[in-house]
Amino acid sequence: MKLFVDTANTEEIRKANDLGVICGVTTNPSLIAREGLEFKSVIKEITEIVDGPISAEVISLEAPKMVEEALELAKIHKNIVIKLPMTEEGLKATKQLTAKGIKTNVTLIFSAAQALLAARAGATYVSPFLGRLDDIGTEGMQLVRDIAEIFDIHGIETEIIAASVRSPLHVVDAAKAGAHIATVPYNVIIQMTKHPLTDNGIQRFLKDWEGLEQKLN
Ligand code: E4P
Repeated sequence: MKLFVDTANTEEIRKANDLGVICGVTTNPSLIAREGLEFKSVIKEITEIVDGPISAEVISLEAPKMVEEALELAKIHKNIVIKLPMTEEGLKATKQLTAKGIKTNVTLIFSAAQALLAARAGATYVSPFLGRLDDIGTEGMQLVRDIAEIFDIHGIETEIIAASVRSPLHVVDAAKAGAHIATVPYNVIIQMTKHPLTDNGIQRFLKDWEGLEQKLN
């Protein structure tokens, strides 16, 4: 399973990229708004940091307007992936953009039926939202398992991006459930690096090394 970083904060993207563990970025209108910067310039800056798929989401709700916005966004860089909401209009726009050779990420997926429709409309990626399903007392990970099973049975090439990831356990479980990619907030990537036994181990190695140096001097 590949990892993307789920943020529009370019400092976090730079730091995640420097770790060498991510190969793409997802943004959404809320994440862009949090940065308080102009949309297209943020997206452009992100494309200059990470050489991989960068999801930029349209705001319009009607297919023709979505396509218009998407065509403008796609001009920014060849790595731009157009993120579209899982609606009837979003499906129509997905079909049209796919026909034009533009990659799409159908977002706000909360059921396997929605994922199947998005895939059949030609989506490059579907994004099931784990955390938001967990929040309403439904097991988000079961959705990833179901989509992975359906795509596998029917040889569907659309990739599953586990989204709305809240913890390292989500990432591990998404990998076991068959997600192709997890898009992970920067703070969760950092949590993934940590284990108390790693810290203890380093301390012990350093202490033993100092002991050796003292013996030899
Ligand atoms: C995915 O592409 C979305 O940007 C994101 O994962 C949403 O996560 P949230 O539910 O934490 O807002």
